[in-house]
Amino acid sequence: MVTKHVYITGEEAADETIYIEAAKILKDGGLVVFPTETVYGLGADAFNSGACQKIYEAKGRPSDNPLIVHIAGPDIPEQLVREIPEDAKKLMETFWPGPLTIILKKADGVPDIITGGLDTVAVRCPGHAVANRLLELSGLCVAAPSANISGRPSPTRGDHVIRDLDGRVDMIIVDDTVDVGIESTVIDMTVEVPVILRPGAVTKEQIRDCLKREILSPETEPEHDISVPRAPGMKYRHYAPEGALSIVRGDASAVRAFIENEVLNVKENSLKSAVLCCDEHADCYSADVVLPYGKDAVEAAAGLYDMLRTCDREGCNVIFAEGIEEKGIGLAVMNRLIKAAGHNIIDV
Ligand code: TXA
Ligand code: MG
Repeated sequence: MVTKHVYITGEEAADETIYIEAAKILKDGGLVVFPTETVYGLGADAFNSGACQKIYEAKGRPSDNPLIVHIAGPDIPEQLVREIPEDAKKLMETFWPGPLTIILKKADGVPDIITGGLDTVAVRCPGHAVANRLLELSGLCVAAPSANISGRPSPTRGDHVIRDLDGRVDMIIVDDTVDVGIESTVIDMTVEVPVILRPGAVTKEQIRDCLKREILSPETEPEHDISVPRAPGMKYRHYAPEGALSIVRGDASAVRAFIENEVLNVKENSLKSAVLCCDEHADCYSADVVLPYGKDAVEAAAGLYDMLRTCDREGCNVIFAEGIEEKGIGLAVMNRLIKAAGHNIIDV
């Protein structure tokens, strides 16, 4: 398949023809990669099962892992959900458009291929001008997982998507204003006590402030017995670079000393090393590749997947990541890092 590449810059974003062409591809059952504020999405018409099947093939994704349906505006079309609880409406009013995905009871006509056979559906109204124009113009509900080959870090830059999906989709729209950098928060609103299934830029504290009630999240409260299915996608190995990644946590100077010592060992074995670290420690390491997180957790999130992909590009065999504080979006950054590391955490 020949993939058409389209690059959007400031003024070009006004060029309607790009959206008309992309919308036509979607309506005809094709695949379009488009930017959102979180990560790039790999989109197809959610009510066309054949088109959605192609998403799984293009990504190499297990088909029991359901897809998020993207909508143009904050009003959820009736054909998608059976009911919207009052608290879900509050979340929609407060956080949409934006990086929050809400799980609701699905309407009868929603194809099983979207929901992985569950009786719920994940809905999200993204907050990105290109995504919103495309959704609006197509008039479709668009199923879109992250636009990476399954298991690899989600794409946040044009070169990431082109590397993963060139030749596997009909069109790639590149617009590198994907600024959150990690996937949306996923919250299940079909259960008595809402559960955050995947942490993201919309934090548990923000949701609690909005709903003024208890919210569960398996990440922070593993002692709770949460007797609902978790986001099926969270059970797969994810976001992983090719090199062996370890997360090192603890007192800052102990972490620094431990990692530098390991880096020297790696060097002795003639292997290539990388370190992901806070900005203040960037000069402390003699690793082949040193990648600072930026000034705070927001910048760490924005750059995280590019850092992991840089480690691959540079052929790093062994990677160490300093742990960051699990607060605000830092919780989501650590959630992704821990999955990328296959739970390989060293506490020093
Ligand atoms: O930011 C995002 O959410 C991006 C952009 C493209 O919008 N999309 C994204 O999709 O991250 P994906 O497919 O990579 O992750 C969707 C997650 C998976 O963990 C999946 O298991 C979960 O949402 N999910 C989808 N439908 C669900 C459902 N009905 N019940 C529980 N979890 C669901
Ligand atoms: Mg994904």
